[in-house]
Amino acid sequence: MNLPPNAELHDYSPTPVSFRKAVIEGLGQPQKTLPCQFFYDANGSRLFEAICELPEYYPTRTELGILEAIGPELGEQVGPAVRLVEFGCGSSRKVVAVLQDMDVSTYVPVDISRSALEQLVRDVTRRFGELEVQAVCADFTESFDVPGDDGTRTVGFYPGSTIGNLAPPSAERFLSGLRPLLGPGGMIIVGVDLVKSTEVIERAYNDAAGVTAAFNRNLLERINRELGGTFRPERFEHRAFFNGEESRVEMHLVSRAPQSVAVDGVAIEFEKGETNHTENSYKYSLEAFRALAGRAGYQPHEAWTDQERLFSVHLLRVAP
Ligand code: AVI
Repeated sequence: MNLPPNAELHDYSPTPVSFRKAVIEGLGQPQKTLPCQFFYDANGSRLFEAICELPEYYPTRTELGILEAIGPELGEQVGPAVRLVEFGCGSSRKVVAVLQDMDVSTYVPVDISRSALEQLVRDVTRRFGELEVQAVCADFTESFDVPGDDGTRTVGFYPGSTIGNLAPPSAERFLSGLRPLLGPGGMIIVGVDLVKSTEVIERAYNDAAGVTAAFNRNLLERINRELGGTFRPERFEHRAFFNGEESRVEMHLVSRAPQSVAVDGVAIEFEKGETNHTENSYKYSLEAFRALAGRAGYQPHEAWTDQERLFSVHLLRVAP
């Protein structure tokens, strides 16, 4: 791809986690599980974009509304001439909302998918012709070198409540692991979905058009396509519900009948009603997330919500 003169792409050739290994291991457990990171092949990414537009799926538009509303205040709190590192290629609309009012010397988007990065770089450079963009193709859960001026104060950006797809101890470990990268005086902006009425939450994961169900079942189609699986996706029902004790939405694929499936030659048996647990999406109160951030070595600096308190955006500072 031809990048504009103000952009560079550093490809650290990340090794993707083995899909086969994760699937065979996950389906071999007493509670069958399929890791949610594998939702996002080309088809799954398209379905996720469609989810973000659904009337029932409030997180995307609510977070965008918050970011647009707080832009100038966020810019002020973060201070001048920062290096903005975005973890994962979210919608360019979110980072545009942030870049608009922030004094950013270098923007560093980091993602494991080179094609998603290239698309983001195209979108952002079209909007900000002068901005220095240093894109990094890497697995951001591992350590990697951040390009740009080392003396510059670094601000992380982790929107979309993607942190909610990690169990709280992993979320804490992940945030804690970012501190060396953010450095002294560094900050991070994190989008976090809030606990609210079960009805509103469950509607967001059980949309009337069935897009979330298709997104969930796409995982079985991907296993068929890439691992020679013999799943018949229509024989699995999409189920999503809020588990209040764990404060998380759980997504499952429920076997409609006793059935036997093969994945790359390995036979897997399902009883009727047995589930594949495909995703957790944790929801936090403002206090619970602040406490987690504190345990991860951050000082909560500020948090904003929308009027209905559906979603939150936290600004955290690396603790001295
Ligand atoms: C990417 N992630 C924050 C979404 C969520 O809400 O947990 C993924 C998703 N799963 C079903 N709908 C959306």
